[in-house]
Amino acid sequence: MNTNELRSEFNRIFPDGGEPRFFYAPGRVNIIGEHIDYNGGMVFPCALTLGTYAAIAKREDNLMRLVSGNIEPPIAVSLEKLEYRKEDGWGNNPKAITKLLTDMGHKLGGFDLYVWGNLPNNAGLSSSASVNVLVATALNTIFGLDMSPVEIALLCQRAENEYLGVNCGIMDMFASAMGKKDHAIMLDCSTLKYEYVPLKLGDYRLVLANTNNPRSLADSKYNQRRAECEEALKILRTVCDITNLCELSPDQFEEYSKKAFGEEVIRVALYGENAILDSGEKPKLTFDAPEVTAYRRALHVINENDRVTKAKEALEFGDISELGALMNASHCSLQVLYEVTGKELDALAYAAVSLNHPQTLDTEAPAYTKVHGSRMTGAGFGGCTVSIVHKDNVDDFIELVGWTYTKDTGLVADFYVAETDDGAREVYL
Ligand code: GLA
Repeated sequence: MNTNELRSEFNRIFPDGGEPRFFYAPGRVNIIGEHIDYNGGMVFPCALTLGTYAAIAKREDNLMRLVSGNIEPPIAVSLEKLEYRKEDGWGNNPKAITKLLTDMGHKLGGFDLYVWGNLPNNAGLSSSASVNVLVATALNTIFGLDMSPVEIALLCQRAENEYLGVNCGIMDMFASAMGKKDHAIMLDCSTLKYEYVPLKLGDYRLVLANTNNPRSLADSKYNQRRAECEEALKILRTVCDITNLCELSPDQFEEYSKKAFGEEVIRVALYGENAILDSGEKPKLTFDAPEVTAYRRALHVINENDRVTKAKEALEFGDISELGALMNASHCSLQVLYEVTGKELDALAYAAVSLNHPQTLDTEAPAYTKVHGSRMTGAGFGGCTVSIVHKDNVDDFIELVGWTYTKDTGLVADFYVAETDDGAREVYL
């Protein structure tokens, strides 16, 4: 939708509204570094040309009227009544931002807001962060609040954590606020230091595949993973002085975890309940014992953090094959150790990498299809995969992975060739 279309929708919905201004905030794809932003790790996302647009105009009174092109009906709320209400659905996002800004002492007035997005909802491409960053960027501009994009990202994270009940990290909103076209952002989530890394993929493309699998209970499982990481941190802190899991290298983790978790936990976590202990006995702990689970979560987090640094180096060297191998390893770890993939994401990721070995597919695959890596992106539990595909193979990829996915799951996937974009901004006619 261009700004002319946004304007006519805005005028149709709010015939008595003022003169609107227009804003855009992108969604994001994370190339690698999953479930480590809230563990003080490194992440590697890019902002996308898929995102959310707003037309917004100030009002004379204290009312906010909210309409989403994707979700009707309109919501009208007074700035004095900004508490969370389930029935306000997506409208709780703009309410959250407005409430936090007001609580910070900013003087806001009423406004009419129309938003329209082309990000698939619940696809793990940060539609929620995109709406929050969009509203915060728009309010920051029209009310002259003078906040930087990083401050906007932090505000949006608080909106999720304190108002919307999702205990997420900073990655999504940072990518949406700070994205840069043709670059990925290497972000250290413990310090918010960042570096833009040119996304030099040569003849390769990032292809997103949406499972179209509704993500049930995703928020509660996400919060549970966070709690399990906190448990792991608590156990490790009995033997070393750390504030975040990602302060440990894989070698340090191996050393400290022997003392902190002990032999039995590690054996059961790695080899299951039938493992044999050094004493020759069988373990008493079950695979789902809290400390065994905590160990497996930490093992993912610490190795994933290490993979991000290696992925950045691979990209800088133009070693796309190494980047892809790291992405495959990331997916396996998220499947086996972190348990956030599910059969749909696994079906997509494995169908994608199987294209390098067409004989493993029950289909007429071309003799050689270059897919250098595939992994789930975002929180998981449904959502999207991201794959590195040779540009000449994108059509085959979509056809063959789509076919295999439907055969395996009965669902139909959607595909997007990702294009990167700058972060949130005002857009003009
Ligand atoms: C969601 C959260 C992010 C991050 C990812 C997993 O997208 O919003 O903060 O934790 O999941 O990497």
